[in-house]
Amino acid sequence: MASPGFVHELGVENVRQHEKEYWKRWRDHPDPAFIAVDEDTEQQKLGAIVLYSEQDTPSGKEYRIGVAVKEGARGKGIGKLLIGRALKFAKDEQAHKVNLYVDPNNIAAISLYKNMGFRIREEKDHEITMEVNLRQSA
Ligand SMILES: CC(C)(COP(=O)(O)OP(=O)(O)OC[C@H]1O[C@@H](n2cnc3c(N)ncnc32)[C@H](O)[C@@H]1OP(=O)(O)O)[C@@H](O)C(=O)NCCC(=O)NCCS
Repeated sequence: MASPGFVHELGVENVRQHEKEYWKRWRDHPDPAFIAVDEDTEQQKLGAIVLYSEQDTPSGKEYRIGVAVKEGARGKGIGKLLIGRALKFAKDEQAHKVNLYVDPNNIAAISLYKNMGFRIREEKDHEITMEVNLRQSA
């Protein structure tokens, strides 16, 4: 789940290679992640969220999230549930911040993040950085 700025800077092929290597390392060094599954079948995967550990400072950890919901399952509250679960995980881990990168044209994602308490930290042409301060949020 590469950021829009990362793709713009490195190009699609380099990002593909980077992601291939990331998933190769995943088995030995997995990042925390949650998967939303269909309540009835408990098999069909509807969406996922990953928390990448960004920093480990004396003031606490900082995570960066990447989230996606399957096309046919969007607009039903799954993204909201996944983000809520990830924020709870980060709080339980004593993290002080969760951040993310989003494409400025991704209106659905930006509005979801704002609803979940994220605020814009930095805005560039190809990328918006948003964050939520867990010590201030309820
Ligand atoms: C962004 C994404 C994860 C949202 O997941 P979702 O399950 O559809 O979102 P939800 O149903 O939980 O919606 C929650 C909130 O998001 C916002 N939202 C969702 N879809 C929206 C849309 N099409 N337009 C505007 N706002 C939208 C609303 O604020 C909504 O709250 P509301 O229902 O109370 O109005 C999903 O669209 C997705 O996977 N997109 C492709 C991958 C992607 O862009 N990932 C993010 C990369 S930064």
